[in-house]
Amino acid sequence: MREGCRAGWRGRMECSWKTVLLLVCASLGVQYTAIRTLRDSLSGPCEGAYRCSSRHHRDSRWRSLCDDGWMQELPRKHILLFSTTRSGSSFTGQLLNQHPEVFYVFEPLFHVQQAFTNSSSRLRRSLDRRALLGAYRDLLLNLYTCDLHFMENYIRPEPQDHVTNSFFRRSSSHALCSPPVCLEGGDGAVSDLPDETWCPKKCGTLNLTLASLSCLSRGNIAIKTVRVPEVGDLRTLTEDPRLDLKIIHLVRDPRAILASRMMAFSDQFRAWKIWNATGRQPRYVDLSQITSTCKDMSASAETGLQRPPWLHGRYMLVRYEDLAFNPKNKAAEIYRFVGLEMEDRVSLWISKNTNSNVSAPSEWNYRYSTTRDSRAAAESWRLRLSFDIVRTVQRLCNDTLALLGYKPVQSSAQLRNLSHSLIQHMSFETVT
Ligand SMILES: *[C@@H]1O[C@H](CO)[C@@H](O)[C@H](O)[C@H]1NC(C)=O
Ligand SMILES: *[C@@H]1O[C@H](CO)[C@@H](O)[C@H](O)[C@H]1NC(C)=O
Ligand SMILES: *[C@@H]1O[C@H](CO)[C@@H](O)[C@H](O)[C@H]1NC(C)=O
Ligand SMILES: *[C@@H]1O[C@H](CO)[C@@H](O)[C@H](O)[C@H]1NC(C)=O
Ligand SMILES: *[C@@H]1O[C@H](CO)[C@@H](O)[C@H](O)[C@H]1NC(C)=O
Ligand SMILES: *[C@@H]1O[C@H](CO)[C@@H](O)[C@H](O)[C@H]1NC(C)=O
Repeated sequence: MREGCRAGWRGRMECSWKTVLLLVCASLGVQYTAIRTLRDSLSGPCEGAYRCSSRHHRDSRWRSLCDDGWMQELPRKHILLFSTTRSGSSFTGQLLNQHPEVFYVFEPLFHVQQAFTNSSSRLRRSLDRRALLGAYRDLLLNLYTCDLHFMENYIRPEPQDHVTNSFFRRSSSHALCSPPVCLEGGDGAVSDLPDETWCPKKCGTLNLTLASLSCLSRGNIAIKTVRVPEVGDLRTLTEDPRLDLKIIHLVRDPRAILASRMMAFSDQFRAWKIWNATGRQPRYVDLSQITSTCKDMSASAETGLQRPPWLHGRYMLVRYEDLAFNPKNKAAEIYRFVGLEMEDRVSLWISKNTNSNVSAPSEWNYRYSTTRDSRAAAESWRLRLSFDIVRTVQRLCNDTLALLGYKPVQSSAQLRNLSHSLIQHMSFETVT
């Protein structure tokens, strides 16, 4: 990693956090622990230190940070949409992306994973899960301070003059297709089309300095990721006094996740497709991926629902099905939880994108499209999976299904009968 130690793109911040920076520079993997240790040595839990309350101002250990003034300028809300692949996170992310005061980033950790998996095999072997998670958290922390330049450590090919063509799913972020980042995006003519259809063509290369400025000017930041396994892996971020992190844990029926992965990643799921088509389970079918998805999902939900102090007021469990069946109300709940107004633009997006009359624009990559009948999409797995496969997932994931209120089916007829609901009413209380 080159220059992996910049914690802020503005000089001021680098001075304020000189000590932190020295520690941050130490090494990948342990750097986050270092920040955490520093925080522990500074003071106990200090929620709101971020806003430099008068209480912290009197505390000499915080005064220099507060006097520097940078804290007040950084984003107020730090939202993490925490999910797993094919759980409806693109759809849910749109609810945040549409908000004019939210700077939304779609899976920035993609670049970290790419950088690591493309390293030499020697490095890859020595890399354990802890180091990768450390790098993930490190990037998240830097993005939450609007330091988009920090991404340059991971983007390949390496950006020149802070400009890149390779930002993953850039057009999934409305802010990156709007002024000041993309002047074309200010044009009312394109506002009715999804950004994905025009942004890659019209906006050109991405200037990461402008992206950082856009982030600061929006005042709040939301990041979607499907790459962090468990909510416990985020603990150092929820405890970081500089952040006011809100985690939206999006879950989905694992049977639906599997069906969706089979459709989207058909090469990887060839054995499953053979099983689905022939009714015979190939011996080489890989059951481990869906099993660990279920394990991670329920481990996180259990942690969140036990309400440990480090997650207090910071965790909300959302079932994708509840959102798909009742998007307006659920979105309003999400907005109450994160503490932002649900702007008209968000409601409008929901009306436009959740009924069956809207069809996806043809240029849009179907794999990632979110524009469709949300209710039908949430249920379509019931017509797409053989009963045999469904029964296997029910066996592998029985605890997860029970915990999250997804009912198992006993027969093929029950599976295909869409009048028979498989969603048990659950209220996962959110403590704010
Ligand atoms: C991975 O590394 C190889 C060899 O260093 C390089 O040629 C290739 O472009 C890299 N791929 C990506 C996606 O960065
Ligand atoms: C990127 O934007 C910044 C801020 O406006 C500007 O100073 C810089 O010249 C831009 N970089 C390039 C390569 O255009
Ligand atoms: C779809 O469009 C038709 C006619 O354009 C309308 O009658 C119907 O209510 C619409 N359905 C939904 C779910 O909005
Ligand atoms: C499974 O097979 C059925 C037909 O038997 C087909 O309609 C469905 O699309 C298949 N599902 C997947 C995920 O390929
Ligand atoms: C799930 O299956 C395991 C093993 O068969 C069993 O011990 C456990 O009680 C089951 N859990 C539920 C919630 O049914
Ligand atoms: C489908 O499910 C509904 C609700 O459980 C039930 O009333 C109905 O009889 C079922 N239909 C068939 C054909 O089994």
